[in-house]
Amino acid sequence: MSLYDPMKNVVPPSETARQNEYAALVRTVLDARFSDKPRAFVHTYGCQGNVSDGERMKGMLRACGFVFTDTPDDADLVLYNTCAVREHAQDRVFGNVGALKPIKNKRRHMKIALCGCMVQQPHVAQRLRRSYPFVDLIFGTHVTHRLPEFLYRLYCTGEKVCEIPQSDGVIAENIPVSRDSSFKAWVPIMYGCNNFCSYCIVPYVRGRERSRTVDAILDEVRSVVAAGYKEITLLGQNVNSYKGELDFAGLLREINAIPGEFLIRFMTSHPKDCTRELIDTIAACEKVERHLHLPFQSGSDRILREMNRHYDRAQYLSLVNYAKQTIPDLLLTSDVIVGFPGETAQEFDETLSLADEVGFSSLFLFIYSPREGTKAASMPDETDRAEKVRRFQSLEKLQAQHSTRIAESMVGRTFRVLCEEENREGVLTGKTSGSMPVEFPGAADRVGTFVDVRITERTGWTLKGEIV
Ligand code: SAH
Ligand code: SF4
Ligand code: F3S
Repeated sequence: MSLYDPMKNVVPPSETARQNEYAALVRTVLDARFSDKPRAFVHTYGCQGNVSDGERMKGMLRACGFVFTDTPDDADLVLYNTCAVREHAQDRVFGNVGALKPIKNKRRHMKIALCGCMVQQPHVAQRLRRSYPFVDLIFGTHVTHRLPEFLYRLYCTGEKVCEIPQSDGVIAENIPVSRDSSFKAWVPIMYGCNNFCSYCIVPYVRGRERSRTVDAILDEVRSVVAAGYKEITLLGQNVNSYKGELDFAGLLREINAIPGEFLIRFMTSHPKDCTRELIDTIAACEKVERHLHLPFQSGSDRILREMNRHYDRAQYLSLVNYAKQTIPDLLLTSDVIVGFPGETAQEFDETLSLADEVGFSSLFLFIYSPREGTKAASMPDETDRAEKVRRFQSLEKLQAQHSTRIAESMVGRTFRVLCEEENREGVLTGKTSGSMPVEFPGAADRVGTFVDVRITERTGWTLKGEIV
């Protein structure tokens, strides 16, 4: 029997209907209060999952009568959707919130709202309440679907609102969405994380792993494809832990079978449940990009154990070799943490050698950042910052060689590319099938359409090409 219960954690339709009623009420109240439509400035930090949440919050704000502005200076409402994954991400938010104070002094009616992963941490919520009294609304990650209700309370009672319930997490369907792009769509397939990697805050702030139903996902993909979207990115902390009525490979096959010309991307994949069947599926699905983002974090078995990653170096390499054999054009990218507590110079060398052996097209490198409440935060860490920076730079240097080599190998080849934006007058950018960025001459009206691009040269690892 399947353990999957599609109704567990699902926000009931009656609650969604109640929020729609609040949105209508807020619209009426704001209509009476503002001569023009009220303007919201929404800024999202962090991962694509958070960006996707931000698009749903914008959808709810629009339903509440807001239009959007791209600066806090003339905003009536500022909403920061925050990230907690590294200290640096958090410091930026504190800095940016502090910078709103003088603006609010001039525009006294301006409301400031904070949500997302950062505020879900009790010590951060406490600091915000204590040291940032000019913030009007704070809400956690498990109640984002209740934004209309919070705005109603804020505008109608004038009181400050703070709602950060602890929860295993919910799934809210049928939330209005205001997508940032007209041709690239984020589609979340699962939320939360159960892995508790020892360095990571995500499981504490995002709740337990939970999957949307296959039908809900397919409905959303069909509707964005019908609306002309050309790139669908399936999102989850670990997309291959997806547990709906199908597994992730099965879901990919269903999405691939939806008629239309569109690309399928997905992230992030966890090596511990990236199966050979999934790799075979990617190979067999013509709409799925030849790209796998498969974070290995460290090349040392001891560090991987300390990180609680549930795979070792040999398993990772064997998986990657299988993927390379099965999908000849595959490009691989990864995340790496440098300077995990207790990482020795030799252990770091194992990270270098793993990166060298695999040959990634690009790497996202992070210096370890202790997160309060995680297991690693209490591990002794004697390596000084300067040494961590040296390790970071040596990995960066090695990676530059691989990126350059891979870029070089693409010169002369032709790829089907989705034109993503006009970079400067008459120059468009897009990505090759393996996700390498490429720029090429083209008119702005091609943005959002597919073209065939022949790669003509590279500068560093930046590809240049021409439409053929
Ligand atoms: N679910 C994804 C990762 C999400 S967080 C996965 O398991 O691969 C994105 C990346 O941030 C991680 O892959 C990791 O490399 C990095 N990261 C997470 N916590 C960190 C920390 N405390 N310090 C430095 N980097 C961290
Ligand atoms: Fe964090 Fe690990 Fe979960 Fe990724 S798998 S979100 S790194 S705990
Ligand atoms: Fe950051 Fe939360 Fe994503 S911590 S990386 S925004 S899940």
